[in-house]
Amino acid sequence: MDRIRIRGGTPLKGTIRISGAKNAALPLMTASLLTDETLTLSRLPELADIKTLSTLLGQHGVHITPNGHAPEGGPTGRVMDFTTKAVTNTTAPYDLVRKMRASILVLGPLAARCGEARVSLPGGCAIGARPVDLHLTGLEQLGAEIELDGGYVIARAPNGLTGGRVVFPKVSVGATENLMMAAALAKGETALINAAREPEVTDLGECLIAMGAEIEGLGTDSIMIQGKDRLHGAHHAVVADRIETGTFAMAAAITGGDVVLQDTRLDLVEAMKGLLTEAGVEFEPVDGGFRVSRRNGPLVGADVMTEPFPGFPTDLQAQYMALMTVAEGASMITETIFENRFMHVPELARMGANINIHGRSALVRGVRRLTGAPVMATDLRASVSLVLAGLAAEGETVLNRVYHLDRGYERVEQKLAGCGAEIERIRG
Ligand code: EPZ
Repeated sequence: MDRIRIRGGTPLKGTIRISGAKNAALPLMTASLLTDETLTLSRLPELADIKTLSTLLGQHGVHITPNGHAPEGGPTGRVMDFTTKAVTNTTAPYDLVRKMRASILVLGPLAARCGEARVSLPGGCAIGARPVDLHLTGLEQLGAEIELDGGYVIARAPNGLTGGRVVFPKVSVGATENLMMAAALAKGETALINAAREPEVTDLGECLIAMGAEIEGLGTDSIMIQGKDRLHGAHHAVVADRIETGTFAMAAAITGGDVVLQDTRLDLVEAMKGLLTEAGVEFEPVDGGFRVSRRNGPLVGADVMTEPFPGFPTDLQAQYMALMTVAEGASMITETIFENRFMHVPELARMGANINIHGRSALVRGVRRLTGAPVMATDLRASVSLVLAGLAAEGETVLNRVYHLDRGYERVEQKLAGCGAEIERIRG
């Protein structure tokens, strides 16, 4: 298993190009199930999760072929064609779904196009129980019959789905995406109330519109969808990864560096920008991205609570905690989205961080410096928070279980090394 070795203490300086968002790419890929024409997606990041979903889609009958690379000078990433002339199999098996929860996103498209879908329940995961009840009750509102059998969800709508009013009791990114895709092929109008406003949801909605869907209210909490008999092919570029953007902004901040993040947008990370500004980090828009630096004075503690977009994202909570471990004063970090998302705390503590957990909050008291150590984490964002801590720590940090990082960060060590970090992958 690969490991990553970091020798900390070098302020990052240079430019990092941000990849297309994993969490936008995954639902966009499943949207290809909605049409028999080709959906071309550009700016696809090369990540383990993208491969896992490609395997799942392949066994549903989606033909996935490369269509070259992005043009020179533009955003990085691959261009792929997704063509589903016919859905050959409506079952998403446990073996593939258990590897990646986002597999549940085939449920809406399959039920809408085929009138039937059988998808393994994903089960719990490292960061929490993560039920899918909102996906299922939402599909019921659109007329699907839902049955649970042998660990599988079976959705049936032999005469097609019909539009309906879905009021989510809780904001869910995945349920909003699943329902938006299902409603695009349902008969009549669907209203999604208390819908997620995340940029990845908007990105999916824009792709569906390019495929012929009629959708209003993207980026608000009420999304209206007028169902169509069929959708057609389209070309769509995946939105910039705001979590990768935020992660590298914090890498610059924790090392006292000065980095330009290219091919991304400040408006995707407004909440983080506000918080980091309070903590002493500077932001400056530049052409095609922004510059982030910490030139004057120390980091200072600032409190935060994770919230659905446009609030501060749970997917940046671990990285922010790493940053706060070396800030002056204390900060209270409250996680409201997932019930078990503090697994990085004991590992950060092994590097000298002073953190106390009180229920859903962690009180971080800044220390003068962290010290390198062998560490490991059980999920993607926890892993990258340890990379940030390693970049700031004195001495050597070795991160184990790098496969978590590879699920969601494209060439992380190369991007950081390009800004002067002493970081390398040890194969094995
Ligand atoms: C998406 O997960 C992201 N994944 C997650 O990214 C992210 O942390 C999360 O949204 C929140 O922003 C993808 O986009 C592929 P939710 P999702 O449904 O859609 C509860 C990463 O590191 N809930 O918005 O699964 C749920 O348990 C990851 O890249 C229900 O109760 O998240 C959670 O507490 C991890 N019932 C809350 O809602 C449901 O049916 C929000 O979850 C669905 C969700």
